[in-house]
Amino acid sequence: MNTVEISHVTKKFGHLTAVDDLSLNIESGKITGLIGADASGKTTLIRLIIGMLRAECGEISVLGLDPVEQKAELNRKIGYMPQKFGLYEDLTVIENLRLYADLKNVPYEFDKLLEFTSLHKFQKRLAGALSGGMKQKLGLACVLLGTPEFLLLDEPSVGVDPISRRDLMKMVRDLISPTTTVLWSTAYLDEAHSFDTAIVMDKGKVIYDGKPTDLAKTTEEFENKVIDLMGGYKKTKSRIAENYVYKHLDDIDYTVVADNLEKKYGNFYAVRNNSFNIKKGEIFGLLGPNGAGKSTSFKMMCGLLKPTSGTARIMGIDIKQDAEKARSNLGYMAQKFSLYEAISVEQNLKFFARIYGIPKSEVKKRVNEILDIFDLSEQKKRKTKDLSLGFKQKLSMACALIHNPPILFLDEPTSGVDVLTRRDFWNHITSLAKKGITILVTTHFMDEAEYCDRISLFYKGEAIAIGTPSELKKRVSAKTMEDAFIKLIRESDEK
Ligand SMILES: Nc1ncnc2c1ncn2[C@@H]1O[C@H](COP(=O)(O)OP(=O)(O)OP(=O)(O)O)[C@@H](O)[C@H]1O
Ligand SMILES: [Mg+2]
Repeated sequence: MNTVEISHVTKKFGHLTAVDDLSLNIESGKITGLIGADASGKTTLIRLIIGMLRAECGEISVLGLDPVEQKAELNRKIGYMPQKFGLYEDLTVIENLRLYADLKNVPYEFDKLLEFTSLHKFQKRLAGALSGGMKQKLGLACVLLGTPEFLLLDEPSVGVDPISRRDLMKMVRDLISPTTTVLWSTAYLDEAHSFDTAIVMDKGKVIYDGKPTDLAKTTEEFENKVIDLMGGYKKTKSRIAENYVYKHLDDIDYTVVADNLEKKYGNFYAVRNNSFNIKKGEIFGLLGPNGAGKSTSFKMMCGLLKPTSGTARIMGIDIKQDAEKARSNLGYMAQKFSLYEAISVEQNLKFFARIYGIPKSEVKKRVNEILDIFDLSEQKKRKTKDLSLGFKQKLSMACALIHNPPILFLDEPTSGVDVLTRRDFWNHITSLAKKGITILVTTHFMDEAEYCDRISLFYKGEAIAIGTPSELKKRVSAKTMEDAFIKLIRESDEK
């Protein structure tokens, strides 16, 4: 039995063909993974399936219904979590759950969901004050209420830490009934083996549809196979790094210093006792589970959030004493896409050029230069909101680098970005570091953690381990970074 049957469906947006003469079936009672690069057509396909979009041609049947003509009837049978799930930021965790339970007309039974999402301790916290990953988990909990027949999840694991990502899949398997069909889209290829069926999409077409184990036995192999199917990854010289000019002349031992930084909300320590020194040209990774205090640390380091106590120094300048001067030395890419969506790519760059203190007479030249270096010239007149996620992230990085800063802060630059674009990003990051730029970065991809020179593992607001990736692995006799991450956190819990 199939929950979804699609034959020869095409969907175009202007010149762009998002879904291209596509045919596939989604089997009932199974978890199907929809894997693909950014802008490969995953979200468009999901929107066609739930009747939010109408196809130009071809046929779609979902639970035996026409998704456009019988949308109301279909809506009652499905649960849908869009990429940007609508939580009510001014309501607490528990109030959000109650609201969605009311909407779906189901009883207030949240214990299991709260336990699985580790949100039971934070029931009274406003959704707006949750970390990125905690929000994602709450969104999933809301969608899982009321056991729908067909569950569509558009990248539910973006920004979710590696331990919780395993739990998320378990949570879905445990909470659905055996007849529930799940369609789960993802850019994380290491999730593929937890699906019953994997559909890989590229440029609006299906390039693989079958059992994940039939494509590759192990996770690493799977990633390489998918890259092959997409035409392979060719590493080229980073033009971004080639065109980067290290301007700062002062000789200084540590370009970035955190000295006992702390942030308290009421009695809750979001960050406690955070100290580290980063050398020029070092890539320093801040890793840790959701809610550990990574973004809070970033925000304090760049003067966007006032610490309860402690100091942050950027190129030797105390951020409290001269925030403007300190900030002119760094570029910051926030976790949540924080550029202006309503204006064009070019306008965003111009705006940041001014914010970062580039003289008015030089702005135009520098913006054109950076558009060229980042391969964004063709997109320059496009509204920022119309860009794919990969392009948005690229633009964020371009804005952060517009003033050639000696320091770069990247808060989850690759979350939700596809595997090829991720490799490109890290090619730029490592090449920039070689030119002397100091980088502070967070990621939930453990393979990326390996690119860091040193790592601070953060947990419940505190650093529980600092060292090179191999030192951390050695400390707990772990083979992989993921393994080390899990063991170090477990060790800290036992203490
Ligand atoms: N305004 C606030 N009021 C109360 N608690 C807050 C506030 N802002 C942040 N927090 C809490 O501080 C903790 C740390 O959040 P932070 O965003 O730094 O985590 P993170 O490590 O970046 O997590 P993620 O990996 O999910 O992005 C979380 O428990 C969060 O809910
Ligand atoms: Mg964060």
